[in-house]
Amino acid sequence: MGSAQFSNGQLRRNMKVGLLLVCLWELISLSSAGRLSGSRQKLEVQKHLNRLNKSPIKTIQSPDGDIIDCVHISHQPAFDHPFLKDHKIQTRPSYHPEGLFNENKMTSGSKERTNSITQLWHMNGKCPEDTIPIRRTKKEDVMRASSVKRYGKKKHRSVPKPRSADPDLINESGHQHAIAYVEGDKYYGAKATINVWEPKIQQPNEFSLSQVWVLGGSFGEDLNSIEAGWQVSPDLYGDNNTRLFTYWTSDAYQATGCYNLLCSGFIQVNSEISMGASISPVSGFRNSQYDISILIWKDPKEGHWWMQFGNDYVLGYWPSFLFSYLAESASMIEWGGEVVNSEPDGQHTSTQMGSGRFPEEGFGKSSYFRNIQVVDSSNNLKAPKDLGTFTEQSNCYDVQTGSNGDWGHYFYYGGPGKNPNCK
Ligand SMILES: *[C@@H]1O[C@H](CO)[C@@H](O)[C@H](O)[C@H]1NC(C)=O
Ligand SMILES: *[C@@H]1O[C@H](CO)[C@@H](O)[C@H](O)[C@H]1NC(C)=O
Repeated sequence: MGSAQFSNGQLRRNMKVGLLLVCLWELISLSSAGRLSGSRQKLEVQKHLNRLNKSPIKTIQSPDGDIIDCVHISHQPAFDHPFLKDHKIQTRPSYHPEGLFNENKMTSGSKERTNSITQLWHMNGKCPEDTIPIRRTKKEDVMRASSVKRYGKKKHRSVPKPRSADPDLINESGHQHAIAYVEGDKYYGAKATINVWEPKIQQPNEFSLSQVWVLGGSFGEDLNSIEAGWQVSPDLYGDNNTRLFTYWTSDAYQATGCYNLLCSGFIQVNSEISMGASISPVSGFRNSQYDISILIWKDPKEGHWWMQFGNDYVLGYWPSFLFSYLAESASMIEWGGEVVNSEPDGQHTSTQMGSGRFPEEGFGKSSYFRNIQVVDSSNNLKAPKDLGTFTEQSNCYDVQTGSNGDWGHYFYYGGPGKNPNCK
């Protein structure tokens, strides 16, 4: 008995079921098309993570949620760079600049006591010799960026340009600064000791940082910059912790360069300090002050730019070939703070710079850079000559320089952002 005998009613019902099935099928394919682009993005993110995160020899869980991978020194991201394929790592600089100040000796007899600090992840372990500690990039870190390509890069040109011919240009990007600077000579490095705070950030897409800029070129499309200091950047790190960071670019923040080790360039040789990791503890208002010193200098023999953290940690170097102007020397040094103001309608952000206090308040309350020095062509650390200052809106964030025997040339800087005089 065949089963292919339908009444008209049955036929109509079957056609309806068929139509329904077609509609369902279309719905399913539509939604899977949606998922397809989602999974393509996932794939792109995963590929980027595979590029950034090298297989570790050991892994350390930091109390702040970071994962620190101890990666063999010869497997670090720098060696993905085509020019570095056959690079022989320099384990130490040929020259170290000689300076005026020995910080250890200086602070012990000083009334204004400060303490030196290291990194939070040290509480849970150490990286073995011949490895370097790399903060692992998580999926969420990349997802917070505007695109996979932009992850780890600064969004805008953000170098403060003192005495700019066009003041409107300074305010355009919403970046605000309070800095001291020198220019008009050839510089081969810079040093400063900076106290560390945890400024409040109003919105996740804003940041607050304190750093040294070593600059080459004249603020064109090919500006060279090497930067290092501390920063709070919720977008970059996913929290409000204060972190050690570096940055470099050889084309005014366009195609080259990045934060920390998030692209190939910087060659790290140190197994104890991780770029992008939290520094701890931080200074408290009318309480203990903690500071870090940063020294960046050009090795006269190889021409690489080296970086030292504190008195003990030589972190590594930026190979000279990464740069054009800086392959020769720096033409300007800047020290100070920067915040992003992203409030709409001309409102000012309440994101703090430094301690969130104005410079007048002084030690224990305001943030400072002390013992600021430059490296000259004979590889000597020297007091800066004709130190200038610059701020876009001193009612929001300000800077005040001074000098004395203990602190050499110094300045207090920072502010609260939004306040009755800065709206
Ligand atoms: C960071 O601080 C802001 C306020 O300053 C707060 O709203 C936000 O939840 C904090 N973010 C994290 C990840 O703790
Ligand atoms: C930046 O903008 C603010 C507010 O519009 C203004 O008060 C300030 O003078 C500007 N700064 C410069 C350097 O142009």
